[in-house]
Amino acid sequence: MVNSSRKRLVIGNWKMHGDSAFNSELLAGLRSGIAQVQGCDVAVCVPFPYLYQTQSLLEGSAVSWGAQDVSQHDKGAYTGEVAAAMLADFNCRWVLVGHSERRSYHGETDAVVAAKASAAMAAGLTPVVCVGESLQEQEAGQTHAVIDRQLAPVLALGSENLSRLVIAYEPVWAIGTGRSASPEQAQEVHALIRTRLEAAGAGQVRVLYGGSVKGSNAASLFAMPDIDGALVGGASLVASEFLSIAAA
Ligand code: 13P
Repeated sequence: MVNSSRKRLVIGNWKMHGDSAFNSELLAGLRSGIAQVQGCDVAVCVPFPYLYQTQSLLEGSAVSWGAQDVSQHDKGAYTGEVAAAMLADFNCRWVLVGHSERRSYHGETDAVVAAKASAAMAAGLTPVVCVGESLQEQEAGQTHAVIDRQLAPVLALGSENLSRLVIAYEPVWAIGTGRSASPEQAQEVHALIRTRLEAAGAGQVRVLYGGSVKGSNAASLFAMPDIDGALVGGASLVASEFLSIAAA
């Protein structure tokens, strides 16, 4: 299916980078540069302590913001966790769930990821559900099986919920390695995800690609019919580079 009906979306994932002074400059750069970007939603997902700063500096601009994780629980004795309602309190629009770094370093299961997506939607946020295979899984020819396994509990949330989320395909071997998937490689997996979404009655969900996206490779990735935008790590820390991806 051609993606002309789905608005492009480019989200920066700052990961555990930044401080008040750095963020202030980066956010000011995004705020002033966003006017040059047309036809694309642009957002940043920042570390929790900087949500207030981000909200203060981006409010009223075309750049929206969010967090990089959320608790599956509403509230209670969960030391260190952050509830979806707390993110909504800072006018977050987005939250990443199931990033591969959360799955691998924090043992997040597919079921937990789906529960987090559900909690985010209940608070009015748009979860960006990340999926992707490791290098080992890719080399063993297991990519489709891994994506299907990761998607299953998310697809089970039903078409009404699915229409309110975003999927990001991030092959683990392409994250932070400088080795992006080729447009054709990424499209092949995006087509699988699209087929699964269509079968679940949610073919219009946006599917982003993530993994070493830069200004120089964004246009060729976005030319693929099922790639609706990007989830950007390293390159989102430089305003001009990040905006050049959104402009592509
Ligand atoms: P890089 O763009 O740094 O490869 O990171 C991708 C990513 O993990 C975004 O969530």
